[in-house]
Amino acid sequence: MRVLLLGGAGFIGLHLARRLLAEGHAVTLVDDFSRGRDDADLAAVRAHPGATVRSADLTAAATWAALPRIWDQVYLLAAVVGVRNVEGDPARVVRVNTLTALHLLDWVEPGQRVFFASTSEVYAGGVDAGTVAVPTAEDVPVTVADVTAPRFAYAISKLLGEAAFVHMGRAKGVAAVVGRFHNVYGPRMGADHVIPEMALRALRGEDPFRVPGADQHRAFCYVDDAVEAMLRLMATPAAGGRIVHIGDDTAETNIADLAKLVLRQTGTPATLLPLPAPPGSVRRRCPDLTLLRTLTGYQPAVPLEEGVRRTVAWYREWGN
Ligand SMILES: NC(=O)c1ccc[n+]([C@@H]2O[C@H](COP(=O)([O-])OP(=O)(O)OC[C@H]3O[C@@H](n4cnc5c(N)ncnc54)[C@H](O)[C@@H]3O)[C@@H](O)[C@H]2O)c1
Repeated sequence: MRVLLLGGAGFIGLHLARRLLAEGHAVTLVDDFSRGRDDADLAAVRAHPGATVRSADLTAAATWAALPRIWDQVYLLAAVVGVRNVEGDPARVVRVNTLTALHLLDWVEPGQRVFFASTSEVYAGGVDAGTVAVPTAEDVPVTVADVTAPRFAYAISKLLGEAAFVHMGRAKGVAAVVGRFHNVYGPRMGADHVIPEMALRALRGEDPFRVPGADQHRAFCYVDDAVEAMLRLMATPAAGGRIVHIGDDTAETNIADLAKLVLRQTGTPATLLPLPAPPGSVRRRCPDLTLLRTLTGYQPAVPLEEGVRRTVAWYREWGN
C-alpha cells in the first residue's frame, strides 16, 4: 500500500510508520515539526527506502495543492495536543485541529480510506457530571461544560472533526474511520503525559515522589496496541463512517499504583506524596471496547507492566 501519515513525525505517527514500513508498505510522512521531532527515531525511518518525509504546514492550502492523490490509506494525526499547549494557546488548538480536518475532507477523493484521530476528551465532561458510565461506549452524550474555558478547546475541535468526517465523509463517499484514543503511551511521546513525566522524575531520583491525582483511574494503552487497532479498523469496510473507541480496557490502574510501578521499573526507592489532581482532570477513564472487538477482533497484547518497562527503557536512554 501507499500510505499518507499526516502529523507522521509525532508520537503515534512514527510508531505507525515503523509498523507499516516493516510490513513492506510505502509511507509518506507530512509534519510541520511544531511538536514532532527530527531525532534519531525519525532519522531511522527517513533512512528506510520505503519512507518519504516532508516538512509542511497542513493548515496551508498550498500544502494540500502540492500533495499527490495516490494513496491507499490516509491517516490524519496532526493536531495541537497536550494540556500545556491547550491551556496556553486555545486559539491555535481550534485553528489547527479544525483546518487540518476540513482541508483533508476538501482534498480527499471519493472511495478513499481515511482515519481521523479523535479523543476520549470529547465525553470527559459527562464523566465528571455523572451522566456518563465508565467503561464508556461510543454512543454516550458528549458534554462541554464551558465553551469559553481554554481546556475545552481541544474537545470542541475534535468534535468538529468527528462531525466533519462522519457527515462530509459520507456526502463525499469517503470511508472515514473516527478513532477515539484513550491514554495511548509509549516511547517518544514527549514529557507532558503522565507516564513519561513520572518516568523522568523517577529517573532523576525524586523523593518524596509527587503523585498528582493519586486516587484517579486510567486505562493506559501501549502504542503498539493502538497501532494494531488502527490498522485493523482501516482494513474493515464496516468501520467506515463509524466512531470507534481505541484503548486497553484490561490495563486500568489507579495513579498511585502506576507511580509504584514506574518507581519499581526505574529502580527508584521513594516515598509517594499524593497531591490533588490537576484542575479539570477526569476522575476515571476507561473505554468500552465492544465495538472495536466486534468489528476487528482486536485484543490488547502489551500488559501495563511490560509497556511501562519499554517506555522507561526508552526515556532512560534518550531523556525527553
Ligand atoms: N497520544 C494519545 O494518547 C492521544 C489521545 C487522544 C487523541 N490523540 C490524538 O492522536 C493524534 C496523534 O497524537 P500524538 O500523541 O501522536 O500527538 P503528537 O503531538 O506527537 O503528533 C501530532 C503531530 O502533528 C504535527 N502537527 C501539528 N500541527 C501541524 C500542522 N499544522 N501541520 C503539520 N503537522 C502538524 C506535530 O508536529 C506532531 O508531530 C492527535 O490528533 C491527537 O489529538 C492522541
